Amino acid sequence: MHDIIEQLEKKREAARQGGGPKRIDAQHKKGKLTARERLELLLDEGTFEEWDMFVEHRCSDFGMEANKIPGDGVVTGYGMINGRLVFVFSQDFTVFGGALSEAHAEKICKVMDQAMKIGAPVIGLNDSGGARIQEGVASLGGYADVFQKNVLASGVVPQISMVMGPCAGGAVYSPAMTDFIFMVKDSSYMFVTGPDVVKTVTHEEVTAEELGGAITHTTRSGVADLAFENDVEALMMLRRLYNYLPLNNREKAPVRPSNDPADRMDMSLDTLVPDNPNKPYDMKELITKCVDDGDFFELQPEYAKNILIGFGRMEGQTVGIVANQPLVLAGCLDIKSSIKAARFVRFCDAFNIPVVTFVDVPGFMPGTSQEYGGIIKHGAKLLYAYAECTVPKITVITRKAYGGAYDVMSSKHLRGDVNFAWPQAEIAVMGAKGAVEIIFREDKGDPAKLAAREAEYKARFANPFIAGARGFIDDVILPHETRKRICRSLVMLREKKLENPWRKHGNIPL
Ligand code: COA
Repeated sequence: MHDIIEQLEKKREAARQGGGPKRIDAQHKKGKLTARERLELLLDEGTFEEWDMFVEHRCSDFGMEANKIPGDGVVTGYGMINGRLVFVFSQDFTVFGGALSEAHAEKICKVMDQAMKIGAPVIGLNDSGGARIQEGVASLGGYADVFQKNVLASGVVPQISMVMGPCAGGAVYSPAMTDFIFMVKDSSYMFVTGPDVVKTVTHEEVTAEELGGAITHTTRSGVADLAFENDVEALMMLRRLYNYLPLNNREKAPVRPSNDPADRMDMSLDTLVPDNPNKPYDMKELITKCVDDGDFFELQPEYAKNILIGFGRMEGQTVGIVANQPLVLAGCLDIKSSIKAARFVRFCDAFNIPVVTFVDVPGFMPGTSQEYGGIIKHGAKLLYAYAECTVPKITVITRKAYGGAYDVMSSKHLRGDVNFAWPQAEIAVMGAKGAVEIIFREDKGDPAKLAAREAEYKARFANPFIAGARGFIDDVILPHETRKRICRSLVMLREKKLENPWRKHGNIPL
């Protein structure tokens, strides 16, 4: 017995050592933590239960039979984040560069299967040189097994990827399938083909950082949600995000009690919207003044900035917030912002998170680049997402809600539950100037007449009351009472039940 315990301890120690002190040192020198250090930071202290510590690869080519490291390059198991269960895998770059073997993939699949059975989220910490080259197609099969599980878990349990090192080739498609991707600046990158292949095929010279670094993916491609300075900051923020999410699609997000009164008024909101309708203002101010304790967890803040998305809480309950941002492109909808918001609305819908939408939208972005890029199809994604969404939907129109964009932004017509407008809201087909130029084309040469027509149009249509008369909005509210009215609506909607007709799946315009 004594021998066996000694042997066990030895084996455990060997697994904990990963690729050995030299490689651990190299990892630290790159400013990166090891797979185990990362899990220690991510999970509540002492809660990590490791599985499959003794798993080894089964490869016997290229001398691999003599080169086995227990754990095979990935640390897996489960633990707690603020007392809530989570399944995890953390790739160990010190062991074969964290490369994915058949056995490594099996370990990941095992925790994913268990997470699905239990109904708990999966967090993957990615740091890997890709498919284990010595294993060839066996490791490719391993990737596909992980992809398949990612897809089956999608909309069942939240899946979060943290990219903390290389993630290239086929490896990118597992994070791509998950709900959120975080990256670490200067030490992580994601691309389908690396700079060398790019140079050979397209003759472009580009660094790994430019091609697929954290800044690239959070500003240009929109592949990743957030970029952090280092591993520690990234893991702390991941813990924060986790607190907003339910464990699975049958549960509600946890309620975090707050001392922020639900009926808190904010008089400064009465002057948030400038008198001049063409003057921008910061929609983020409205969001932070409405949510509990001003705490807004924004996602993709540097991408498609004309729309804001993220989580907040109202009376402790998680809400997803979508808001046009008048500060950027006047808050209009374009391809990128439509896709950004659509995916977020679908996440909220899948995981029982009410959606609060703040609207100030002058319409869809005009122009050839948008039309050629397929704004019709991509804008339709947001329309589709809101229309199929069955969670509580609350909408506040602060100023402009013009044209088709009015319909799209969680309007009453798309089963909005509670639709409010501020007194200065303009719910119309278009702005007054554009409207009179079209309907009174014959007055084109007469600026005085046109101005009179514009004033007449404005008085008639640039207000919330025509929509109110039809019940398209439920009430015109004072800006300072916005939080109170949203909180009350959320309480009223707590037990909302709405189901879409049975179907295998809809056909969202992709
Ligand atoms: N399969 C097997 N071993 C791999 C590997 C892979 N895909 N990727 C890295 N490794 C090993 C390296 O052989 C090295 O082993 P060693 O410590 O015994 O020498 C170790 O992991 C670290 O790799 P290294 O190249 O020294 O690290 P780096 O930080 O300089 O570079 C990469 C990292 C990912 C850029 C580089 O390792 C690489 O290009 N890997 C191959 C990527 C690839 O083509 N993958 C297959 C297609 S998906």
